[in-house]
Order: sequence, then C-alpha cells, then structure tokens
Amino acid sequence: MYSSKINSKDFPKNFIWGVASSAYQTEGAWDSDGKENSIWDTFTNDKKFPNGNGNTATNFYHNYEDDIKKIKELNLSAFRFSISWSRIFPLGIGEPNQEGIDYYHAIIDCCIENGIEPWVTLYHWDLPQALENLGGWTNREIIDWFSYYADFCTKEYSSKIKKWIVLNEPMSFIGLGYFMGIHAPGKKGLKNFLPAAHHATLCQAEGGRIIRKNIPDAFIGTSFSCSVVTPKNLFRRHRKAAKRLDALLNRFFIEPALGLGYPTKDIPGLKRIEKYFQDGDEEFMKFDFDFIGIQYYFRIVAQYSFFPPLLFANEIPAKKRNVKTNNMGMEIYPKGLYKMLKKFSKYKNVKHIYITESGVCFDDELINGEVEDKNRIKYFKKTFVICSKAIKRGIKLKGYFVWTLVDNFEWADGFKPRFGIVYNDFETQKRTIKKSGYWLKSFLKK
Ligand code: BGC
Repeated sequence: MYSSKINSKDFPKNFIWGVASSAYQTEGAWDSDGKENSIWDTFTNDKKFPNGNGNTATNFYHNYEDDIKKIKELNLSAFRFSISWSRIFPLGIGEPNQEGIDYYHAIIDCCIENGIEPWVTLYHWDLPQALENLGGWTNREIIDWFSYYADFCTKEYSSKIKKWIVLNEPMSFIGLGYFMGIHAPGKKGLKNFLPAAHHATLCQAEGGRIIRKNIPDAFIGTSFSCSVVTPKNLFRRHRKAAKRLDALLNRFFIEPALGLGYPTKDIPGLKRIEKYFQDGDEEFMKFDFDFIGIQYYFRIVAQYSFFPPLLFANEIPAKKRNVKTNNMGMEIYPKGLYKMLKKFSKYKNVKHIYITESGVCFDDELINGEVEDKNRIKYFKKTFVICSKAIKRGIKLKGYFVWTLVDNFEWADGFKPRFGIVYNDFETQKRTIKKSGYWLKSFLKK
C-alpha cells in the first residue's frame, strides 16, 4: 500500500496544500501592544508549570514576514493560523485593541502579497483570562462573549478572509483543560467538563451562523481531533470500552452539529450533560458546515477499566505496547488516517473534508546546518498515499495542512516535541528548513 512513489500530480488540481499553526504556540509578544493574558499565559507563567512558556514562542509576532515567505518558498499555497482573542479584546469583550486588529491585518496582507491563502481559526485554545475569571467555558455566558468576538472578527476581516474555522479541536481543549486539568485553565472533573463541553458545542454552531451572516460567501468549517480506537482484544468488555471511547473522542462534538445530538446512547454516563440544556438547545447546536477539518495524530488501544467511572474505559499507553512512537509517546500509526477519513465521510451532511492538521514530532537535531528528519518524510509519504487513495475511492477530501511550519511551543509539553518542517533554534530564533521541508517543496513543485 505504501509505495513511495507519490506525486502531487496524483491529487486533483484544486487540492489545497497548506500549513497550520496557532497564535499561542507561535506569536510570543504575550504582553505587547495592548494584549492582556490568556489562560495559557497564566497557566504557563505559574511557577508550578515545568515546561517553559509561550511568552516568546517562535516570535512569529515579529518574524511573520519571513515565515510567510518560507511558506511560499516551500510551494505551499495556504496558511491556517488563529487569532488570539485577547489581542483583539484584551478583556474578552468591551473595547477592541487597535494594535491587535492591525496586527492580523498585517499578517493577512502579507499572505495575500505572497500568494498564500489565509485560513483563519477563531479559537485555538487561548481564552482571555478575564473571561476565565468569570468561569470561562463553564459559564453559559461564553455564548455571548464568543459571539461578540466572532462577530467583530468576521466583520473586520470579511473582505480579505473567506475561509473560516470556528473552533480548534473542542475535545482537546475541553477534555484536557476542563476535565483532566493538564492544559489551561487546569480545571478538573465532570462538573467542569459537562457544562464546558455543552457551551463549546453551542458556540461551535453559533460561530458558524455569525460567519454566514457577516460573510455570505464564506467557506465555513470547524475542526475535530480524532483517533482510531481499537480494543485491547476481542473480549466483549474491551470492545464495548473501545466503542465508548470512540463515541467520546470522535463523535461527541460533530454529531450535535449534524443534528444527531450527543452520542449518549453509547456513553449513557454522559447523559448528565442534559442538565445544562436550555429550551431550544438541540436546534441551537446544529449548523450546516461547508466543511469539517479533521486532525489525526495517533491511535488509541482501549480496555475496560473501572476508572474513570461513567466511561469505564481507558487507554493502554503506547509505550507498554511496543509500537513506534513520536517523542510525545503517541503511537505513530498513519494507516489510521484512512479509517478516520472513511468514518467522517460516512456522515450524511459532511460535504467536504480537509485535514486541517497532520504531522509528527521527533527529537530533531541540527547538525552541520542540516536537519535529517527522514522519519517525518516517511510519515508524509505514507499519509499522502492514504489521502490519494481516499480521494480515488470517492472521499471528498479537499486539502491537507501540515502541522506545522516552524517548531513551536507544544502546550503542556513545552519545546521538546518538534513538529515543524522548519527547525527553530529557540535561543536565536534562527530557522533552518529541514529535509522534510525540502522534500515537501519538491513534492509540490509545479
Ligand atoms: C493541536 C495543536 C497541537 C498538535 C500537536 C493538535 O491537537 O491543535 O495545537 O500542537 O495537536 O500536538
């Protein structure tokens, strides 16, 4: 299946090849030009946080011109980035910050001048701290706050941006940030998870409606994390555990948007989310997205377990399974991407699919001015073969965004996981294109 002979000509002419990033992981300038703290600024600047912070990150705030030129140099044609909410509204709502607004105009203009199409994510995890102080995603008022922000951005950038992504991976920022407490804002437990999850679902749909209203010709999507979930073995209790994990990780946020409601039939314990429903919410959760973004990084092997209660399933860590892993300990399993594409394309109302992130992290090293990241090239070859096969079999896959351009701040894991196709020296901020970047460049050569 993995013939290494893959060519960009195997893809339709209008297939989008891009690169993705996010504000907090790259911008730095955390307290510059009127910006106030986001939850990630607070979380990582706390003495207890062990893995550095994004105060400078890759200094994209100042380096954006060079980085955007690199996108062009590598023959990629689209750049997905996110807007930092607290740059636009330092306190979440209220007075907008002109310097923040101008900054994103500058990025967008720079993309356009370089022939790169900007794709904007409204929310990639960096909630203004001022809103977290009022309960953040657990407070239903987030619908008003998010609408205010989304309305402003879509009016401000309407003439230049047509491609919009409402949320980045709600299961990640709600699960890790409001259930497990290992991402900002560090909250734990179902009492936080359930309301936060429901409000994210409502914002996901409302965000879509706001974009549609303000930019009638916009192409609107939202992105989902996904993982292939396989049972430890074929015993019924493990198979059922895998089904529950799959419902939680892969179906929980897309199905309400499609009008199917939360998959509580398969995870009855999560029926408690209905406690946070108000009249009309079932309708409110729906939005007819033009496309969905899927972001696949690893496979999960599930087993029955007494903990956590309600889910009664957990994951057998990759390191106990003797499989190939990336340097965050996740199994490298490109084949799973095909399964995910198939799974999401089966939903009746999914019109187009984009892989809005795909990549792999290693301990890349700069030796004599070069980074030999052969395993990343292998990963791309395998995933591209899978994508081309998926398209040939009728899956409406329309684009692929590499995660990511420049090695950046990988959330709770700090700077160790290097995902970039461009190496970054975090001391000097000097960029060096890795072998994978050059490989991609020649792959995309017209
Ligand atoms: C996130 C990115 C992150 C990547 C790699 C995705 O879940 O959207 O922000 O860097 O995974 O872990």
